[in-house]
Amino acid sequence: MGPCDLDELLSRMPQTAHPMLLSSMSGKEDAAIYKLRDDLVIIQTLDFFPPIVDSPRLYGNIAAANALSDIYAKGGRPLIALNIVAFPCEISLDILFEILIGGYEKVKEADALIVGGHTIDDEVPKYGLSVTGISRPDELMKIEGAKPGDIIILTKPLGTGILTTALKAGFQTEDEIKEAIDSMCRLNRNASEILKTSGVTACTDVTGFGLSGHMLELLKASNVSAEIWLKEIPVFEKALSLAEEGMLPAGLFRNRDYCAEFTHPEEEIDQILLDLFNDPQTSGGLLATIPEENAETALSRLKESDSPEAKAIGIVLDGPPGKMHLKGG
Ligand code: CO
Ligand code: CO
Repeated sequence: MGPCDLDELLSRMPQTAHPMLLSSMSGKEDAAIYKLRDDLVIIQTLDFFPPIVDSPRLYGNIAAANALSDIYAKGGRPLIALNIVAFPCEISLDILFEILIGGYEKVKEADALIVGGHTIDDEVPKYGLSVTGISRPDELMKIEGAKPGDIIILTKPLGTGILTTALKAGFQTEDEIKEAIDSMCRLNRNASEILKTSGVTACTDVTGFGLSGHMLELLKASNVSAEIWLKEIPVFEKALSLAEEGMLPAGLFRNRDYCAEFTHPEEEIDQILLDLFNDPQTSGGLLATIPEENAETALSRLKESDSPEAKAIGIVLDGPPGKMHLKGG
């Protein structure tokens, strides 16, 4: 579902508020956050989608890394996970086994436990997880809190929407987009650990609404604007050439339209970079704001860890909430 439709739907729902509930549906927080005790919050999230790669094992890996990411985006530690499965009974159960093993591998890598799940018969396979994690309240990273002057950091390259669209259309093989698949399989665990000890002021992860949509939510929630340095944004090289050939997923246009009134590109902006900015991601990186004095150290720690492509991509400004001034140079 596109961000516009989701907004419309959520605005009609009764709002849930509770003194112990630290997240709200309208606030676009990545996960539900509930304070159990003064020193403990519980974080709960759910994510699933149809296959985006051919190999069932890799699909399981990616779906699980993607679902775990919302816990990491909040600075949490995943504890238990439940499988969510839709699967056609005509297809061999060996395929489903591979998907589940793929999910299991990532949950195990996250030092969490798969504790059950639910399966239904469905024409198109779907897989994902519901994950429960915990955090100390003072280590929580929230989508709100970015301050003018903070540096904006992105930990993974963009382009997975374009690349998996090309894979589905038969224009690329899994081997040819291996770089992007590896990135989607990578947990945001280490990046989360580093950011959380770098004085992070706000954090979310980049998934279906693209960098544009998730940036917009973070800026709105924080009541700030931003200047984005388009040429600094890490991207998969191959996604640039495929975008040039017009290999653009439908979600990219939905994200572009959703952000249109907040997006202010300079006149000489490169259209292809703008496409990447709106490209829907799967298991994308963390998008975080941190005080300028901590940015350099945080970036070098991220690069030495497992986020070699992490970059500073802009700066938070005082201004109309959500406004994104895009600079090409
Ligand atoms: Co998220
Ligand atoms: Co999510």
